[in-house]
Amino acid sequence: MGLVTSTEMFKRAYEGGYAIGAFNVNNMEIIQGIVEAAKEEKSQLILQVSAGARKYASPIYLKKLVEAAVEDSGLDIVLHLDHGEDFEICKKCVDDGFTSVMIDASYLPFEENIKLTKQVVEYAHAHGVVVEAELGRLAGVEDAVNVSKEDATYTDPDEAVEFVERTGVDSLAIAIGTSHGAYKFAGEPKLDFERLEIISKKLEGFPLVLHGASTVLPEFVDMCNKYGGDIPGAQGVPEEMLRRAASLGVCKINIDTDLRLAMTAAIRKHLVENPSDFDPRKYLGPARLAIKEMVQHKIKNVLGSSNTNL
Ligand code: G3H
Ligand code: 13P
Ligand code: ZN
Repeated sequence: MGLVTSTEMFKRAYEGGYAIGAFNVNNMEIIQGIVEAAKEEKSQLILQVSAGARKYASPIYLKKLVEAAVEDSGLDIVLHLDHGEDFEICKKCVDDGFTSVMIDASYLPFEENIKLTKQVVEYAHAHGVVVEAELGRLAGVEDAVNVSKEDATYTDPDEAVEFVERTGVDSLAIAIGTSHGAYKFAGEPKLDFERLEIISKKLEGFPLVLHGASTVLPEFVDMCNKYGGDIPGAQGVPEEMLRRAASLGVCKINIDTDLRLAMTAAIRKHLVENPSDFDPRKYLGPARLAIKEMVQHKIKNVLGSSNTNL
């Protein structure tokens, strides 16, 4: 039991054809909801913290909350930096006790991405920490990530092989058509599985990562809109596509938007139905439960990682 790296998790996930959920955390209720689900499912788990989350909650609070989650749940948990944009933030997280960091230098040209990734790998590995990098660029907008559709590029399979060999990175985020946020596809959802199969074959045994993997569950979008929200035309990655990705070497599936929607829907519903409530516990409690149920559904029915954290 403890904070662990993802090395063993990915090995077992790869062999088992399932994926580990990497969920973004920003506060106590989000962490508790996710961890309760993982505990009930006895699932391996990655909790990831973005630069925006560190700024919002302050790094020390998130670190202590995750430590409390490990102690309270008895689970092995990976504490991961999501989308680190430079060496300094990766170093800070390594020094703070994270067990995994992402250097996202996908905004740089190929050679510069390699150079920066290599620098992070050297520092992290010297401290027993694993590194995820990204090649290709996802479209989408979130706090620290803002890439237009025109600037998005899919991962080139040969470059992926060269990138992994030259950087010594432990896992690689690839771009095959997903994007961050709630608006992923203008028409039919479509991922480039042909490309994924080629990358997966060329990098046999190597763990791949899928960002922008929320399904944007309609029940939560509808609930937000029923209770005063206005989220038009949201569309995510269908669950069967995530299952297929997990069978093709994708060992880590990143989910944030679905957490945001579940939480917001529960809070909206509670406050509309109970307009005189003003005790935060009254609406944050249902929000935490909505997160737990959603994550449990993902673990059981989509990721396939139940009974892997024994
Ligand atoms: O991919 C980014 C994550 O969803 C985190 O979003 O930067 O708004 O915290 P954030
Ligand atoms: P979503 O916006 O699809 O949840 O993706 C989250 C993500 O990739 C975090 O790194
Ligand atoms: Zn991401």
